[in-house]
Amino acid sequence: MQVNIVIIGAGGHGKVTLDILQYDTSVEVIGFIDDDENSHDKIISGVPVLGNMAALPRLIQEKRIEGGIIALGNRKVRAALFEHLKEMGLKPVNAVHPRAVIAKNVRMGDGVMIAAGAIINTDSIIGDDVIINTGATIDHDNMIGDHVNIQPGGNLGGAVTVKAYTEVGIGATVIQNISIGEGSTIAAGAAIISDVPDNVTVVGVPGRIFRADKREKGT
Ligand SMILES: CC(C)(COP(=O)(O)OP(=O)(O)OC[C@H]1O[C@@H](n2cnc3c(N)ncnc32)[C@H](O)[C@@H]1OP(=O)(O)O)[C@@H](O)C(=O)NCCC(=O)NCCS
Repeated sequence: MQVNIVIIGAGGHGKVTLDILQYDTSVEVIGFIDDDENSHDKIISGVPVLGNMAALPRLIQEKRIEGGIIALGNRKVRAALFEHLKEMGLKPVNAVHPRAVIAKNVRMGDGVMIAAGAIINTDSIIGDDVIINTGATIDHDNMIGDHVNIQPGGNLGGAVTVKAYTEVGIGATVIQNISIGEGSTIAAGAAIISDVPDNVTVVGVPGRIFRADKREKGT
């Protein structure tokens, strides 16, 4: 039986998440939820934007919604909505593209999005509410924390740890055995060859700390 679900976030990332979930016969995407009123009543790839987060409790009843996934870029907002979803009794679902390659023993949390062409190699662990975006590669024995976003084409070598709320930018490269702290940002195209502390932005080749980010968690 199909489970009715919603996608939180009706932007570009939401649209890609819908495309992935439309391959999954175990779920039916009933609609998008978005707080941007300009998006309301829009139809995205055949699926309507139903309303804002405040309307969700009513929609859960009316449309028998049982699950959802967060599809927003901002890590802090995503994390808060992920918790909110669970508080409302919705199951966080995973969106895994059928053409992602995931080793048999990878352990994956809830509310995870794995896009087309992504590769996750053996013995890696993926936390909750993680995005592994288009064509990103996560090699063996990686530990990817909750609410992490690996942007398209990010490449992580073997035994890399990425702590919660960190973003690895598009096309960035991380060599083997590196630990990247919590709430940090790795710039697009950066090459990370040494450990990265919490709450910093790192840019360049080789990566250097560009600024400290005074943030509690994430962006
Ligand atoms: C690093 C990053 C977070 C900085 O963003 P920001 O805080 O808005 O910074 P700015 O754009 O104001 O740039 C600040 C400085 O950093 C430099 N810079 C920004 N991004 C850079 C990058 N990827 N590599 C090298 N230098 C970079 C800018 O040239 C600028 O330098 P200047 O002060 O000498 O002029 C952002 O540029 C980035 O790379 N984000 C990743 C985005 C991504 O992966 N998107 C994928 C979407 S699918």
